[in-house]
Amino acid sequence: MKEFPNLTVTDHPLIQHKLTKLRDRETPKKLFKELVDEITLLLAYEVTRELPLESVEVDTPLEPTMGKRISGKKLAVVPILRAGLGMVEAVLRLVPSARVGHVGLYRDEETLDPVEYYCKIPAEPEGRMFIVLDPMLATGGSAAAAVSLLKERGAREIRFVCLVAAPEGVRTLSQAHPDVSIWTASLDRELNDQGYILPGLGDAGDRLFGTR
Ligand code: PRP
Ligand code: URA
Repeated sequence: MKEFPNLTVTDHPLIQHKLTKLRDRETPKKLFKELVDEITLLLAYEVTRELPLESVEVDTPLEPTMGKRISGKKLAVVPILRAGLGMVEAVLRLVPSARVGHVGLYRDEETLDPVEYYCKIPAEPEGRMFIVLDPMLATGGSAAAAVSLLKERGAREIRFVCLVAAPEGVRTLSQAHPDVSIWTASLDRELNDQGYILPGLGDAGDRLFGTR
């Protein structure tokens, strides 16, 4: 994408179909959670395409042969609490050995600025691929703050995966962290005055956890 060189919009037909159901205000909580999980899995398949490989010998029932396996340090997935939690299990199904960190941030409803309340990430962050998860990239404040927290603790190779992004959020995250590639199922139109993505899907945390 010309304006956002580090943004990948993964618009596979299955993702688009599931995203439409996710946006639907009539979609109940259980299905919403399942759809977040399924879309994340499809995105994670793409994002992990660049994981490093090494050659390894394997004995088939018939003969020895050479195969490949993921090399290097275990992947780290870091959901931004709360809504990012809904995306973790999908990545772990693809990469069961991945380590899981957590970053707790919420948006101040007045200023829309992120407020940090928790951060715990896997040990030895250097040389480890980090995938930060949050369904929504709105103003970009939460994503940029989460990436800063990871970098302060030594993470260097970071990707950000969301389901819906606003242009404002992509701009903010890209300007703050040009080295971080962003993966999304959709680049939506804009933010409204309350910082919600349009057309978006509403409040992802509330819809996942049934809190409104
Ligand atoms: C939502 C969402 C992101 C953030 C995005 O979380 O899950 O973390 O808003 O907005 P931004 O790009 O403008 O920072 P929220 O702050 O509502 O917290 P919650 O997940 O606990 O509901
Ligand atoms: N957070 C959400 O959950 N939804 C939005 O549209 C914006 C921020």
